[in-house]
Amino acid sequence: MLVYLDNSATTQPYKEVTHTVAECFEENYGNPSSLHRMGIKAEKAVKAARKIISASLRAEENEIIFTSGGTESNNMAVLGAADALKRYGHRIITSSVEHPAIINVCKALEEKGFDVRYLNVDDKGRIDINEFNEYYNDNTILISVMHVNNEMGTIQPIEEIARYKKKNEKVFFHVDAVQSYGKIEIFPGNTGIDLLSVSAHKLHGPKGVGGLYINRNVNIPPLLFGGQQENMFRSGTENVPGIAGFGKAVEITFSDFQNRIERIRKVKEYLTEGIKDTIKDVRINSYEDQRCAPHIVNISFLGIRGEVLLHMLEQADIYISTGSACSSKKRSKSHVLKAAGLSDAEIDGAVRFSLSEFNTIEEMEYVLEHLKASVYRIRKIMRK
Ligand SMILES: Cc1ncc(COP(=O)(O)O)c(C=O)c1O
Repeated sequence: MLVYLDNSATTQPYKEVTHTVAECFEENYGNPSSLHRMGIKAEKAVKAARKIISASLRAEENEIIFTSGGTESNNMAVLGAADALKRYGHRIITSSVEHPAIINVCKALEEKGFDVRYLNVDDKGRIDINEFNEYYNDNTILISVMHVNNEMGTIQPIEEIARYKKKNEKVFFHVDAVQSYGKIEIFPGNTGIDLLSVSAHKLHGPKGVGGLYINRNVNIPPLLFGGQQENMFRSGTENVPGIAGFGKAVEITFSDFQNRIERIRKVKEYLTEGIKDTIKDVRINSYEDQRCAPHIVNISFLGIRGEVLLHMLEQADIYISTGSACSSKKRSKSHVLKAAGLSDAEIDGAVRFSLSEFNTIEEMEYVLEHLKASVYRIRKIMRK
């Protein structure tokens, strides 16, 4: 049995997505900018995807820009907002647990003289709104806080943050919703969010395609200059197969949404409870209530290295992660777990299980059986 539990890194595309993408490659391969029928057909596919995605966010169609993924959307939002508002101030507020596609952009902005404040988090990775209050001042031009943390699953208090910025047009609020899109409903226009990043491959869509919601009252400069596609925000011939596949993935995810999400949460809870009941010396690093996204649980198995466990489970065709996909190949310790104040032993023994709607209780029984045996074996070897 193959059990894929690394869905925060990427997901298996829906069959319908694969078909949509293949159809674009085989038949609908025109350039949306071309004036002939083939161009118009391709343009229609892009338009249809934009309609589905904007509806899922209760946004207007012209508020959605297609990009090459979450990383580009985050870069465009933060660099663009900083550039657009630099005449009003230099303070940027973000958190210490953001994805590198935010943290490293902020570091680059610090080099250029911006004053970036990184909010601390509690032991489950959640920011404290009181600290936010301390940092927020007249010099603030940008707030960028993720909706769901990719390593711990923690949901940040986005609505509370949005209250600070409401009606202040000199502050932009950006949300990295890459991990929450398709798992937790979020309507940026109603919430007071100006910019919101999403990515297709986290919700059973293709890799290399994403979106940026840009509120209709917000103007930021583009990252790329060229043929002025995407309403001049993002030049370059549209990735039609990717965009059409993204639209299909969103259409499926948002149909019967609540039931899909409840199923994922139930399967995750079954796994978490099973681990707590059968394996000793574990620490559940994620919140175990509604403050955690339905699909992620981070757990430390004390006395072992997460990486060793990962490879042992791989032999049983079970796929997990030690941290985020982007940081787990680097040997440095997770900046997220460090920010949450975990001890070295807790960080070393931490693994992330991230689920999707394809996972079942039967699979979790298989995982529990192998997990128990693997943890026991590794601990035994370590004691020798
Ligand atoms: C929270 C978060 N932001 C941004 C990204 C980057 O998205 P992409 O892989 O589409 O560039 C990821 C991917 O892991 C993520 O988890």
